[in-house]
Amino acid sequence: MCGIVAYLGEKQAYPILIKGLHRLEYRGYDSSGVAIINGSMNLYKCKGKVNKLENFVKGKNISGSIGIAHTRWATHGQPNDINAHPHTSQNGKLSIIHNGIIENYGPLKEELEKRGHIFLSETDTEVLIHLIEDIQENEKLDIAESVRVALNQVIGAYAIVVISKEEDNKLIAAKKGSPLVIGIGDGEFYIASDATPIVEYTRKVVYLEDEEMAILEKGKDIVLKSISNISHTPYFQQLTMNLDALEKGGYEHFMLKEIFEQPSSVRETMRGRINIHDGIVKLGGITDYKQKLVKAKRILMIACGTSWHAGLVGEYLFEELTRIPVEVEYASEFRYRNPVITEDDVVIAISQSGETADTLAAIKMAKKKGATILGICNVVGSSIPRETDAGSYTHAGPEIGVASTKAFTSQVTILTMMALMIAREKGSITTSRYQQLVLALEQIPKQIEETLKTNDIVEAIAARYKDSRNFLYLGRGYNFPVALEGALKLKEISYIHAEGYPAAEMKHGPIALIDKDMPVVIIAPRKGNYEKVVSNIQEVKARSGKIIAVVSKGDTQVREMADHVIEIPCVEEMLVPLVATIPLQLLSYHIALMRGCNVDQPRNLAKSVTVE
Ligand code: AGP
Ligand code: GLU
Repeated sequence: MCGIVAYLGEKQAYPILIKGLHRLEYRGYDSSGVAIINGSMNLYKCKGKVNKLENFVKGKNISGSIGIAHTRWATHGQPNDINAHPHTSQNGKLSIIHNGIIENYGPLKEELEKRGHIFLSETDTEVLIHLIEDIQENEKLDIAESVRVALNQVIGAYAIVVISKEEDNKLIAAKKGSPLVIGIGDGEFYIASDATPIVEYTRKVVYLEDEEMAILEKGKDIVLKSISNISHTPYFQQLTMNLDALEKGGYEHFMLKEIFEQPSSVRETMRGRINIHDGIVKLGGITDYKQKLVKAKRILMIACGTSWHAGLVGEYLFEELTRIPVEVEYASEFRYRNPVITEDDVVIAISQSGETADTLAAIKMAKKKGATILGICNVVGSSIPRETDAGSYTHAGPEIGVASTKAFTSQVTILTMMALMIAREKGSITTSRYQQLVLALEQIPKQIEETLKTNDIVEAIAARYKDSRNFLYLGRGYNFPVALEGALKLKEISYIHAEGYPAAEMKHGPIALIDKDMPVVIIAPRKGNYEKVVSNIQEVKARSGKIIAVVSKGDTQVREMADHVIEIPCVEEMLVPLVATIPLQLLSYHIALMRGCNVDQPRNLAKSVTVE
């Protein structure tokens, strides 16, 4: 959650900071702020998005070549001007930006209040900067050492950058739980929550580790140490990110761009991993763990949100192909319910951002109990891949829209490849069936391309139902998770209440909701339980519900019953989620747009949920 950007060098800091905040706005956008030192500490912050901040600073003094900037996703205190970051110390000499939660801010605040500190905001962050100031004044330490000592008193998660008016040639950064990356330029330093604000200036970066801090001083080399004061050698990495991927490329919104990117993003996910001539799938990242998977007594998939839905598709895939029992868990529930985990379990953590706090914490817990942990992540170098034993990147490219789209199809693609690879190794599938499925998977990008042609039809359906107050999404088997994902997409960007349900389960409750005003989206490809789904459609029709059916090309039976049909190509049953999801993404996009919602930055959400 929240975006952090900082700069120290010869250039003017402000343009770099603002551009960086725009790149990170997907992470949090309820308020934003900037502090630049130029003799004095000039601090500007306000409620709202980054362009509001830009208007706010017009005509004000923003010159200076050291500064910090933040877009907030509030955890402690309303999103308002005062709670926006940066926060300053009581003497006004220090400023901080922070991502995360200081859990023991209560007792720390009480103690500081007794010592005369007065707090302006409701945030936990302000307590931390006052603590740093208190330590500095009482122990006469420099800023780096004051930060280090303060962090030893802190419980919780943080990524912070601190600047001091009296040491205006230094940025002090530290992290625990929340991500932070440092860009090393020519005589200059950049800091950000992820590499996107940095990549256009330098490709040389260092990712901070937990409980590690960086002291960045103008004209000097980067200094890294643990908060327990052990010095670390920096591990420099080269960014390979493509700058074009961070722009909208002619599309009105990132979400639309990312939906339309799916033929190529899924292709990228498979690139170099499928050999058509031999009909073989190979995921290099997990080759050494193949046997562990083959012998696994159980596979646990751990994730949140859309990634959890991908995990559910994974459950169907793995159980069908490998015959290994699978459980799919919400990371947030799993970590707090004392689950039974053994050394024979393999945990697969799925996450687009690779930073989701609940998923990360669940991994750490499973690791302690001896399970093997694999990751499926999109953001290269993020925390989850670094925490897992091995894994496979989805290589879908940066996903900026808060609603996850291309990440989902790439996750499902990886899960399909993994299940196929293990099934072959285990011998739970015949060679001919294996090769048939590999070839079918390879065709999917083309079939997604085909599916995207339904955009106009979907837009017309959206216009018809944009004012509905509720939606029901139904699917069976592999398409039950697709129904859940369709409902989540609609909820999060259009604020219409939507529920996903297994189609047959409808009669056990949700059927009571159906009347002439209830649009019901049913995924009904001519595969699997087609006839059963047809019966479910009848049940909805009998109660005057409106049917929007996603059907296989050429279907006539459902067409006769449905109010609207969206045709998708005929694909293998287990591959249907990869195409059936596309029109549902488009439906939510168009409805949200027609309702005047902010598609890329829906209210109350953030792209990377780095708080519990
Ligand atoms: C998806 O549209 C959501 N915004 C959200 O549910 C997301 O999938 C979830 O927060 C998990 O994120 P991750 O994949 O980065 O771990
Ligand atoms: N806990 C801090 C606050 O509420 C930081 C939140 C964030 O990560 O944006 O201000």
